[in-house]
Amino acid sequence: MSAVEAMLALAREALSRAHAPYSRFRVGACVRADSGRLYAGCNVENASYGLTLCAESVAIGAMVAAGDRRIVEAVVVTERGEPCPPCGRCRQQLAEFAGRDTPVHLAGPDGVRLTTTLGALLPLAFGPGTLGGSP
Ligand code: THU
Repeated sequence: MSAVEAMLALAREALSRAHAPYSRFRVGACVRADSGRLYAGCNVENASYGLTLCAESVAIGAMVAAGDRRIVEAVVVTERGEPCPPCGRCRQQLAEFAGRDTPVHLAGPDGVRLTTTLGALLPLAFGPGTLGGSP
């Protein structure tokens, strides 16, 4: 199984556990860290809609909590045929831990539909480098 296939399988597993009773739009995500470890997440909605967590954010949070800090590849999967591009907030969150060339795979029920990069999704990004020096 390729790394992307393994990531997609984990993202789908997470999607199956999504808490999306309001939108009914279930999302799964998986990020691969430079350690080789994979971290998955699903969207977690809230009755107070604005508190919803996106699947990418949850996956990134799991990665950071486990001690990894560098994303080398990401997968986002939904149950729709059309690829689901990460929302703006998730692009910014990815930019905190990934580079311009980091591949982002957008998948649906049939598998990966589109592969792009974080740089294509978020050109001219505001990132850690913009602040000069690391925190
Ligand atoms: N959603 C994600 O999980 N990731 C995205 O990048 C876009 C949107 C979720 C949030 C909400 O639960 C549902 O999709 C509909 O917006």
